[in-house]
Amino acid sequence: MADFGVDIHKAKAILASGELVGLPTETVYGLAGNGFDEDAVAKIFEVKNRPNFDPLILHASSVDRVEGFVTHIPAKLKPLADAFWPGPLTLLLPRKSNVPDLVTSGLDTVAVRIPSHPLTRSLLEILDFPLAAPSANPFGYISPTLARHVDDQLGDKIPYILDGGQCDVGLESTIVGLEAEEITIYRLGGLDIASIEQVVGEIKVMAHSSSNPKAPGQLKSHYAPSKPFVIGNIDELVASYREKGEKFAILTLQKDFPEMPDSKKVILSPEGDLREAAKMLFAGMRILDSVDVSVILAELMPEEGLGRAINDRLKRASVKN
Ligand code: TXA
Ligand code: MG
Repeated sequence: MADFGVDIHKAKAILASGELVGLPTETVYGLAGNGFDEDAVAKIFEVKNRPNFDPLILHASSVDRVEGFVTHIPAKLKPLADAFWPGPLTLLLPRKSNVPDLVTSGLDTVAVRIPSHPLTRSLLEILDFPLAAPSANPFGYISPTLARHVDDQLGDKIPYILDGGQCDVGLESTIVGLEAEEITIYRLGGLDIASIEQVVGEIKVMAHSSSNPKAPGQLKSHYAPSKPFVIGNIDELVASYREKGEKFAILTLQKDFPEMPDSKKVILSPEGDLREAAKMLFAGMRILDSVDVSVILAELMPEEGLGRAINDRLKRASVKN
């Protein structure tokens, strides 16, 4: 078990010594290390059991700090930085040579984000380096939205977890970059497309690819529970698994199955609020992954607002590599 607390000076000392810290952001918890220290970055890959070809996001507290490791913010992306930082947006920006190759997997862009969580922002302000931080989960598993989730899976490998409570957004950041000069979404996430399009007009969403991914967050099977996860029409699924006599749990937006025990169902938002659903999603998936059933049945959300990003995660949770 790791130590928990809200001591940013303790976190700073650990990070400055080249060790890793679990920390909250408004999207999900991150596994953070000094982004300018190759050895610390290598430790991140090792602790997560993450393939080296999957580049990391650098987190900083201000645009000034960001300018210390990117050559510039392209004019097409600048309005997005102005509108949504700090917040759940990651931009792919041209890197300076002080960014270790391991952070970017040798790409000439670096993924950058200014998170809004107050505890982590205060920490970033007192550091003189950016933090490389992927989600604090073993590679391929569900991202953590509580300090306890980080401890459950990585607690024996890291000395300290900053506890900032439950993540407000609950989905990873939306990743945006330029693909042949066109503003493109590389990963759907906690900032919805409509909000982005209000600022820069219509944009492209990159199709997912399971082979040779530009962003392995795009790998088809990802964010996945260890139990089989099946999506479809929830009434039909429940009827068919009942008939088969299999033990199942369910995850829905609003629909209740009153005859099922509370321990085997997660209703993401009884009011059908997709923001609330996003916030509850990963914690709900983890709960159902730990109960005594052989399969989790889930339904897709309406394809609007954060529903699109939630559906992206649900679909990838349902694919097995
Ligand atoms: O909300 C988030 O983004 C969280 C919190 C902790 O900030 N972080 C997160 O990191 O989700 P991670 O490592 O789990 O996902 C980062 C994604 C990966 O899919 C990676 O492939 C992609 O960003 N990525 C990083 N650098 C890239 C680059 N230069 N070009 C394309 N994709 C990149
Ligand atoms: Mg991740």
